[in-house]
Amino acid sequence: MLKTELDWANLGFGYMKTDKRYIANYKDGSWDEGCLSADENVVISECACVLQYAQTCFEGLKAYTTKDGHIVTFRPDLNAERMITSCERLEMPSFPKERFLNALDELVLSNLDFVPPYGYGASLYVRPYMFGSSPVMGVKPAKEYQFRMIASPVGPYFKTEAKALNLCVSDFDRAAPKGTGHVKAGLNYAMSLHALMTAHANGYDENVYLDSATRTHIEETGGANIIFVTKDNKLVIPKSSTILPSITRRSLVEVAKKYLNLEVEEREVLYSEIDKFVECGLCGTAAVISPVGTITNKGKVSKFENSTSEHSIINRLYETLTGIQRGEISAPDGWIRRIK
Ligand code: PLP
Ligand code: COI
Repeated sequence: MLKTELDWANLGFGYMKTDKRYIANYKDGSWDEGCLSADENVVISECACVLQYAQTCFEGLKAYTTKDGHIVTFRPDLNAERMITSCERLEMPSFPKERFLNALDELVLSNLDFVPPYGYGASLYVRPYMFGSSPVMGVKPAKEYQFRMIASPVGPYFKTEAKALNLCVSDFDRAAPKGTGHVKAGLNYAMSLHALMTAHANGYDENVYLDSATRTHIEETGGANIIFVTKDNKLVIPKSSTILPSITRRSLVEVAKKYLNLEVEEREVLYSEIDKFVECGLCGTAAVISPVGTITNKGKVSKFENSTSEHSIINRLYETLTGIQRGEISAPDGWIRRIK
């Protein structure tokens, strides 16, 4: 497909097959040299550990075209490191950081026709993942693994981009203390699907999860961390050992402090504090920073009237972060990996 044939302005967040994907296989205790392939099919044993016991983890990052025409990725070293943490938790072999970064460069360069041009608010979403590919029947880790990195051009994650999201507090839990909430395990998302469909059936865009031990603290949503702003412009960010350490959220903390001179509090946030906040947003690679209008908990609606205002902190954070990613604002050292 020619670059010009895609409708960049109207891309959703979905899978589109691109020219190449990166594949490496792990066998007998080591990774092979890896390669790019035109074949989008995965062929594995019917009894592969991933199919029986969900032994899989993944990452998500984006490649952007900058204002001056370069192709860059944003802090991919942190994705490589987080994937290693996920692999350790799931008894999978880690894929070395340098190899992850080189595979990323190769993947993006081999799919240049699919990298959205500057100015459409679109990007090339990169999905690295790994799964246990060899057969197991008793519960144990696989002996063989496949690491893949695929890419797809994407637009906004939430269809309701311009308007604020309506969330509900889920009756289901996402992550147990000392469970897998802090890693990007496929199982966390499989078990969130029923909760997500329930939220949609009730007219909400996403779920907010509370901590499962006490159900008093705000954790995160199914696919993004959550951030709040107080009346006096303080950014308040829930801290918990059972949420995913979002790279976007960690970057926003620095953007808030260094670029916008804001006070930032990273701490446990009680649900009972919710009405102190005047802005709320979801942050993540896919979500970027999506404004939240309401959160409903057992029929009680909390409103964040300021989230969508042009002068909101959420909007200033969005403009600064995306400006850094698209080369309009100078980035802190090491945040941008230029691929072309
Ligand atoms: N929380 C969850 C559950 C996610 O799936 C994601 C997406 O990756 C995030 C938070 C945001 O993380 P990041 O900013 O690293 O994409
Ligand atoms: C991402 O933001 O990259 C994610 O993996 C979230 C997912 C729910 C799309």
